[in-house]
Amino acid sequence: MAPAFPDSRSVILTGAASPRGIGRASAHYLAGLGWNIGIIDLDDAAAKAVAEEIAAEHGVVAAGAGANVAREPEVRAAFDSLEAALPQVVALVNLAGVSSPVPYLEVTSEEWERVMGINMNGVHYATRRAVESMVENGVGRVVNLSSVSAQRGGGTFSKTVYSAAKAGVIGFTRSVARELGHAGITVNAISPGPIDTDIMGGTLTEERKTAMAADGVLPRIGTPRDIAAAIAYLISEDAGFVTGQTLNVDGGLYMH
Ligand SMILES: NC(=O)c1ccc[n+]([C@@H]2O[C@H](COP(=O)([O-])OP(=O)(O)OC[C@H]3O[C@@H](n4cnc5c(N)ncnc54)[C@H](O)[C@@H]3O)[C@@H](O)[C@H]2O)c1
Repeated sequence: MAPAFPDSRSVILTGAASPRGIGRASAHYLAGLGWNIGIIDLDDAAAKAVAEEIAAEHGVVAAGAGANVAREPEVRAAFDSLEAALPQVVALVNLAGVSSPVPYLEVTSEEWERVMGINMNGVHYATRRAVESMVENGVGRVVNLSSVSAQRGGGTFSKTVYSAAKAGVIGFTRSVARELGHAGITVNAISPGPIDTDIMGGTLTEERKTAMAADGVLPRIGTPRDIAAAIAYLISEDAGFVTGQTLNVDGGLYMH
């Protein structure tokens, strides 16, 4: 049996500073449930500003730190500073990511490295650092953002490089789950369908939203809150028997 969650617990979210993104909405949602919040994003000032906004609105402890998740020393330094500022880190949510609409025949090695560096290596660097503390504590939750694009072979705004990185995230999730289950750590992925954020080349028009929803079973695209609620479940104490899974939150776009 893994130890119970501590009364006062923290979650670190990467990629949670963009104003209309899934990460910021999730940080607010989780703070509303009593989680203390650590924010890692590219821009140090933006990460700290979101943390301040969350602390003020929800009365939890929150801290922000700047890091490029594609650079391991920066990720480790950010974790060190957040862990010093926050109660026990029980959960990590890897949201930092970039899109890549480049057709495969136009993919350069620079584009490949850029997207893999952030969307795949970044998930590894943050997870690697976070689980070191979780193993010591005997309890932990990791949630990684994949994409329905990985399972359906693109078909969304982003193309092959993005799909490959997000498919890598699923294999990574399963393997780390298998290796660290004995240490009380669960590792799961969320696979969103199209969500109304600015990652797909800017804010979506109503026409684009309608076109993206047409393939699914439900007559709309998703909201950041749809994903936040799934994250909240997967990092909860009561989700302790769920690991190695990929939860599709996609309006029925992909059934498996
Ligand atoms: N919006 C969607 O339709 C959708 C669908 C499937 C999966 N996802 C995934 O969900 C996650 C969140 O996406 P979003 O829609 O909220 O997009 P977003 O662009 O609002 O958020 C991405 C965040 O990651 C940060 N980031 C980018 N590169 C970084 C780096 N190198 N280091 C640190 N931070 C970095 C950005 O500053 C931003 O805050 C991403 O991993 C994305 O691939 C989104």
